Amino acid sequence: MQPILKDFLEKWVYPTGFTGPGVEFRLRQTERCLPLWDKLVTQAIQAAENDRQSGNNEYKAIRARAGYAAEGPFMSLKQMSTQILSVEIDEQPQYIDLQRMRARQIWDEVKHGQLHADVLLRGGFIQREEELMDDPRANTQPKLSYFGMTAMFPHIHPLARAGQHYYNESMACLGIAATLSVIKDDLIRHQLHSQSAEEMMHFMEGKYQIDAYALTPEEQKPIEEVFDFLLRPWAPEPSRALGGSQ
Ligand SMILES: [Fe+2]
Repeated sequence: MQPILKDFLEKWVYPTGFTGPGVEFRLRQTERCLPLWDKLVTQAIQAAENDRQSGNNEYKAIRARAGYAAEGPFMSLKQMSTQILSVEIDEQPQYIDLQRMRARQIWDEVKHGQLHADVLLRGGFIQREEELMDDPRANTQPKLSYFGMTAMFPHIHPLARAGQHYYNESMACLGIAATLSVIKDDLIRHQLHSQSAEEMMHFMEGKYQIDAYALTPEEQKPIEEVFDFLLRPWAPEPSRALGGSQ
């Protein structure tokens, strides 16, 4: 197992303040995630090594444009509003703390988009953020497990998003840690360190949702189905912002 994954598991996955069926369900799903998390770290380290050895700065722009596409204001507002909408008005008393965490994530994701724009501006790849509006590379992202899944959340179940939080946001945490272990460039390090604690919060949100709320087979089923979708063989590659090709 990659040491970065081992450290993540010991610090964030296994310690919990909860007991009971939610935790047991989460640990069963965790077992399914482990091989793919490990593969993700290996791939992210390799991608970072390739970029470090490329001998030019273009990789910074490629990653930042892809990050802007996935986390810029347009994508963030679309994605985050769907996760808010997955809780009906009459369900809000039950899920109000989830709604508060999800509202916070809207801010986080838009900030991440700005961090990517900042790399492009400070790196001299663009002069003004508005230029990104004309660049398809900064406005399209092909990962089904990200946008396709996101668009479905309002139709599935208020807790379905927990599967995305637990699996995809852990990938962000692990991919960032793997990249930071290789790339020493100040612009990239500033961007990743500014983002990483928030990605961790999003992962912990998924952990909390499952441990605290996924207590019955009826509540666990929609989350497990999200894991079934996300754990397909094509899913584990790092995002393009972290060196992947998708
Ligand atoms: Fe983000």
